[in-house]
Amino acid sequence: MRRSILIKAFFLTSVTAALGLLITVAGPRVGEAEYGDITMNQEAEKAEMPPVVFPHWFHRIRFKCKVCHEEIFTMRAGSNHVTMIEIIKGNYCGKCHNGRVAWAPLYCDRCHSGKSQFQIPEARGQTSTP
Ligand code: HEC
Ligand code: HEC
Ligand code: HEC
Repeated sequence: MRRSILIKAFFLTSVTAALGLLITVAGPRVGEAEYGDITMNQEAEKAEMPPVVFPHWFHRIRFKCKVCHEEIFTMRAGSNHVTMIEIIKGNYCGKCHNGRVAWAPLYCDRCHSGKSQFQIPEARGQTSTP
């Protein structure tokens, strides 16, 4: 099941490659708010990390809803309990952000781009260049 999701995700990515290229060339929009963004902050600020801004629209135009809902994420903001250990193990965002379907979860600031009193500590790493 997990494998078929990844294959499908990969396939859909290449189908939308032309569109993707336009956006990839511009690079990730770190910290730029956009319509449809979902802030995820169940654990982030508790752990002194800025909240995660999930660009829902960006993903919705690349993947069918079914790729993520309900198997990876339930469809309600704030209802998914996501941790970095799970992401690194290949769950939640890590189903794709694994260095194969999409970039690996090494560039903290790409996801933790919300406004916050907290800064990403340098020791945790925050480079945006792959
Ligand atoms: C079904 C696969 C999939 C899942 C699940 C997924 N992503 Fe992505 N994400 C992608 C792909 C593909 C890209 C584009 C990668 C590229 O441009 O190289 C991307 C790009 C992004 C970007 C950069 C957007 C931009 O403007 O360039 C952010 C931020 C992001 N994802 C955050 C997340 C977060 C946070 C989660 C979990 C809540 C998540 N993603 C889950 C596939 C996924
Ligand atoms: C790459 C994965 C991904 C894809 C594809 C995706 N979503 Fe989502 N969706 C999420 C995440 C992550 C959340 C936020 C969950 C959370 O905050 O716990 C979310 C939240 C939602 C919500 C709740 C919003 C709210 O304010 O409560 C709805 C509704 C939704 N998605 C509908 C859709 C529909 C419809 C599609 C297809 C057109 C779609 N999603 C495609 C990952 C995805
Ligand atoms: C692909 C997106 C993504 C990337 C990249 C990412 N994170 Fe996260 N991170 C998340 C999501 C989603 C959550 C859960 C947000 C919430 O609800 O609080 C989270 C939560 C956290 C938490 C609190 C929960 C926990 O696991 O303790 C910490 C700490 C954290 N991230 C650190 C980091 C660090 C350090 C980096 C860079 C090395 C990083 N993250 C990169 C998506 C990402």
